[in-house]
Formats: sequence, C-alpha cells, structure tokens
Amino acid sequence: MNKDKLKILMVCLGNICRSPTAEGVFRHQVRQRQIEHLFDIDSAGTGTWHIGESPDHRACSAAAKRNIDLSNLKARTVSPDDFHEYDYIFAMDSKNLSDLLTIQPESAKAQVMLFLTWPDLDNGRQGYREVPDPYYSSQEDFELVLDLVEQASQEILDHLVSVYQLN
Ligand code: 4NP
Repeated sequence: MNKDKLKILMVCLGNICRSPTAEGVFRHQVRQRQIEHLFDIDSAGTGTWHIGESPDHRACSAAAKRNIDLSNLKARTVSPDDFHEYDYIFAMDSKNLSDLLTIQPESAKAQVMLFLTWPDLDNGRQGYREVPDPYYSSQEDFELVLDLVEQASQEILDHLVSVYQLN
C-alpha cells in the first residue's frame, strides 16, 4: 500500500444510499482529473442492517445517469480502526457525525466532519448542511443527493489538490 495516498472515508447510516454515492462520485472525479493513484476512497455505515448489500437500486440508477457505476460496492460498518486508517472521514448528516465522534478513539488521526460544510461553508451547499436521507423518499430525492454530492466532491477535491499540491 502506498503510504502517501490520501485516504477518504464517506459515512452515512446504512451505507447503501448516500455514502456509496459519495464514494462513487468522488472516485469518478479523481479519475477525471487523472489523480486516482493518489487516493484511497471507501464508504461505510454507522448502522449494521445492510452489511454486505449492494447500494440501493435508486442510488445506482441516479448515479448511472451520470455515468457512475455503484454496482460493485458492498455495505460495511464503520470501525474504530477506520479512524487510524483514514485521513478524512466525511459524515453525510449530523447524526452520522455525532455517532462517529462517539466511537472515535482518542489517538485517532482522521479529521471527522460534515461533508457539505467542509472546508469552510457554514451554509453548506444549496442551503443544505447535511445530505438528506433519501431512503424513505422518492427517486427525486436521490437526484438531489447526486447534485449535492457532486458539488461538494468537486469543491473538496479542489481544496485537497491545492493544499497537497496534487497537480
Ligand atoms: P443511507 O440511507 O444512510 O444513505 O444509506 C439509509 C439506508 C437504510 C436505512 C436508513 C437510511 N434503514 O433504515 O435501513
């Protein structure tokens, strides 16, 4: 494993809707910028219900419309080891964030924060500070997840490219 890679973990509740979408979108964008070799990207859930499952078909179809394939991803639960392994852990909503902070080991290296407000957006993206949970909603809400996640990923990536001088 290359120690210099930036390690990014996306976290939501079930790891079948928002965080696999964020993983797929972020990976797609680093590929487009041809800096994929500089990143390790993964996703996980704070809950255990969907371990081993593929992403929700509505998330897959919203992503596929933007040429992003989520079909190979499998849900897993976040673990205390992730806080030692990853540089950045992005929570999709504030409950995910508080659940993460509850299990964060004291010596953790990871920076843990809300995906839509990092690095310095108090008002988030399009007025959203959290990615709304689309699980009990319609396909339209999955399109909103894609919009918010694409925008946040671009800007986070711009920031990381600048801070780590990746180009
Ligand atoms: P996610 O969405 O956290 O974006 O993956 C959910 C998936 C499943 C459940 C809730 C949210 N659930 O209650 O099973």
